[in-house]
Amino acid sequence: MTTRTDAGDADTEDLRQRALTTLAAARERTDALTTCVDDRDLTAQHSPLMSPLVWDLAHIGNQEEQWLLRAVGGREAMRPDIDPLYDAFEHPRAERPSLPLLPPDQARAYTAEVRGRVFDLLESVPLRGSSLLDAGFAFGMVAQHEQQHDETMLITHQLRRGPAALTAPDPEEPGAVDLPAEVLVPGGEFTMGTSTEPWALDNERPAHRTELPPFWIDTTPVTNGAYLRFVEDGGYGEPRWWSADGWAYVREHGLRAPLFWREEGGLWLRRRFGVVEPVPDDEPVLHVSWHEADAYARWAGRRLPTEAEWEKAARHDPVSGRSTRFPWGDEDPTPLHANLGQRHLRPAKAGAYAAGASPLGVRQLIGDVWEWTSSDFLPYPGFTAFPYKEYSEVFFGGDYKVLRGGSFAVDPVACRGTFRNWDLPVRRQIFSGFRTARDAGPELG
Ligand code: AVJ
Ligand code: FE
Repeated sequence: MTTRTDAGDADTEDLRQRALTTLAAARERTDALTTCVDDRDLTAQHSPLMSPLVWDLAHIGNQEEQWLLRAVGGREAMRPDIDPLYDAFEHPRAERPSLPLLPPDQARAYTAEVRGRVFDLLESVPLRGSSLLDAGFAFGMVAQHEQQHDETMLITHQLRRGPAALTAPDPEEPGAVDLPAEVLVPGGEFTMGTSTEPWALDNERPAHRTELPPFWIDTTPVTNGAYLRFVEDGGYGEPRWWSADGWAYVREHGLRAPLFWREEGGLWLRRRFGVVEPVPDDEPVLHVSWHEADAYARWAGRRLPTEAEWEKAARHDPVSGRSTRFPWGDEDPTPLHANLGQRHLRPAKAGAYAAGASPLGVRQLIGDVWEWTSSDFLPYPGFTAFPYKEYSEVFFGGDYKVLRGGSFAVDPVACRGTFRNWDLPVRRQIFSGFRTARDAGPELG
């Protein structure tokens, strides 16, 4: 008898457990987002920018079926007839409400049936032997996929009109915050990307050395109060702050403030998950496009950080010279480190999460708001598409800008120091904000 250690040893049991709890946590979120509204709301088109919620729900199940039951488990398609409906590349979002989608009860039943079979598969599948199986990658990828759609569905909730369907407690008050406005990151090489993070997606790989001159970066994301000064200084009416594309975009759409803001009798209000409230000065600005972030930075005499600068600020430990998984080290995020996972339905005040600061003292790099960078979404040197070109590769080029760090809406499983998000520079329904940077003279490095 041979002793097989690959199917039942302690490490494999840990991986199975991790896959199981991560998938279960994602489903708990999905359920919360899809049971708090009625069937009419689930099937409605709340914005042409978004799918109906019921599409996301069945798409989550369909991707899980494709990657876990079919690719990993070798099973037959359960519903080959519905595959094309839930292929994101066949139908743009605006078109999805008019497709013959599974109605809510069937979408729920299908997605739950897939999950039941996945849990059966997870009991016996070896978690090594191929790149999909190693370290349970495919299970981690599917859990991240579901959580990414949970963020997408939260965006749909934010766009939805009518009374609040979701509520959550506010983040804790940070107490007295007295921080320097910016932090100097010394020049030199650091390791960008990863080759060792087991569930990192293809675009985060491989790890590579990157050399940067010294630069200054904001200690916290730009706040509503700071952004309001740009608005009230007439920033939206002054072409010199905007790129040519940005200027054409604000003119065409008549923009004058972040999405969901409006002015009433000299007071700025915002709509947030069905509630209208005064815009809080000390919270990171949310729902700005790349163009608005870029214009604000120019008005402030600064610029957006590049993606490499952002990652160096977030991961480089000047003492060890190593790049850590998160600003605070290698430990997975806890509620003390960062505002993640839809625990709160808003960013925490600027200066919060002292325990999540980087070694140089930069705060809130992870969680709160996705941060626009100046960089286009491009492959790292040595990139290989895995497991499918449609995750990252088809988006590379000059059309998309990179966002980093994750928002309050993203789960820790889909957020880390190396994680790369991207969107079009005009998009602002997403939970996007930014911080600014500037060059440092070489004498300061
Ligand atoms: C990485 C957030 C840009 O939502 O379009 C979901 C993630 N990819 N399903 C997106 C994704 C396939 C993706 N983003
Ligand atoms: Fe998807």
